[in-house]
Amino acid sequence: MNPYTAYTYAYPHKTAYRPIQRTDNAPLPLTTVWANEPRDNLFLYIHIPFCEMRCGFCNLFTTANPAQSFTQRYLDALWRQAEVVRAALPDATIAQVAIGGGTPTYLDVDELARVLAIAEDIFAVDLATVPVSVETSPQTATPERLALLREHGVDRISIGVQSFVQIELNGIGRSQRNPIVERALNNMRGFPTRNIDLIYGNPHQTEASWLASLRHALAFAPEQLYLYPLYVRPLTGMDKMQQAWNDQRLSQYQCGRDFLLANGYRQQTMRHFERVDHVPQANAHYSCQEDGMIGLGCGARSYTRSLHYSSEYAVGRSSVRDILHDWVKRDFQHVDYGFVLDEDEQQRRYLLKSLLSAEGLDGEKFVARFGVDPAKQFPQLLELTDYIQRHGAHWRLTEKGLAWSDGVGPAFYSERVRELSAEFALS
Ligand SMILES: C[S@@+](CC[C@H](N)C(=O)[O-])C[C@H]1O[C@@H](n2cnc3c(N)ncnc32)[C@H](O)[C@@H]1O
Ligand code: SF4
Repeated sequence: MNPYTAYTYAYPHKTAYRPIQRTDNAPLPLTTVWANEPRDNLFLYIHIPFCEMRCGFCNLFTTANPAQSFTQRYLDALWRQAEVVRAALPDATIAQVAIGGGTPTYLDVDELARVLAIAEDIFAVDLATVPVSVETSPQTATPERLALLREHGVDRISIGVQSFVQIELNGIGRSQRNPIVERALNNMRGFPTRNIDLIYGNPHQTEASWLASLRHALAFAPEQLYLYPLYVRPLTGMDKMQQAWNDQRLSQYQCGRDFLLANGYRQQTMRHFERVDHVPQANAHYSCQEDGMIGLGCGARSYTRSLHYSSEYAVGRSSVRDILHDWVKRDFQHVDYGFVLDEDEQQRRYLLKSLLSAEGLDGEKFVARFGVDPAKQFPQLLELTDYIQRHGAHWRLTEKGLAWSDGVGPAFYSERVRELSAEFALS
């Protein structure tokens, strides 16, 4: 097993999405897609595909420094899309909100207020009463923007720091200086949940420099940390750098995890750590295994139980630009690109979302939901004994399994998803 096969943050990955073919070739209306879906407990995700820089390692759907006129066109289209989706789901109740990117705080205060108004005015969400998360970056986490977010009830703010060591930042193509990062982290005080993203496995990183970044981050006592192993994928600017760094990533994972566990954090997933005294604003009703996500914006995914859909996916600058320019002209009434989840794929998705987190897979809940024993459907649960162990009704990752989550997850992908993702021509 390769410990760094793929990060399973959503199954299936967008590289498995394709144009939706209907037998009658008629377009698929949004209203049909949502017709029989529960809509009393939905997640609203808004994607802002803009950044003030394009980092060498990043493969997210985003573009650096678009023309101001384009930002306005994008926000107009976003508003239009929100109205169309709301009209198709007039009775939808939103239980959780996230604004991500890219870098949502690339937008100025007035523009950000427009984005918040989509949730508040179009979807009638009282942001003070549901969990709301927003992503930011060191350069754009200004007091004005953060004050606006906090006033509107945003309770979680997440910043990409990646590293506090200059040579490491240069090595991954991230232009950033520590005084700017520290100013941003100070500006974030006052949010109930502050998250810092850091990256390990950087070719310029040693165990000592990794620990130095972790210590630097902990000086701000963040409620959460995400430790990401570096991935280098095609078209992210570092593709040619061929290094066998699995061992480095595994040992830096161990070092980072041990350090955080010894310093008052508990581990939720391979990447996610939470300060032990921190109680996140929980949504008592929303379960991450229950699908139901409305994605707004170019690059956002939407999930019903049996269909995941989005706009097209790319990473390269000109392909992202083409997709964005096409997207702002759309009428948003139909769904034309995505992935249909049959019963088998729904089971895989449920299993992956549970198994890769600390709670593990509750076999009884799986049986109650799907009417089948997970171990009968997925013999890998019994075979991968180094990585997965049974505790009563629960299947949980072992310590090694947690470290190798990016290998264990893909072991449960279907053949179809593997083939589609392997065939996907990333542009
Ligand atoms: C939307 S960004 C964070 C917010 C903001 N745009 C910033 O960079 O400051 C999401 C996070 O994913 C992680 N990430 C993205 N691409 C990665 C890669 N190739 N390898 C490891 N981590 C990656 C980074 O830690 C990054 O902070
Ligand atoms: S890491 Fe953040 S700032 Fe850099 S390109 Fe990706 S989304 Fe933008």
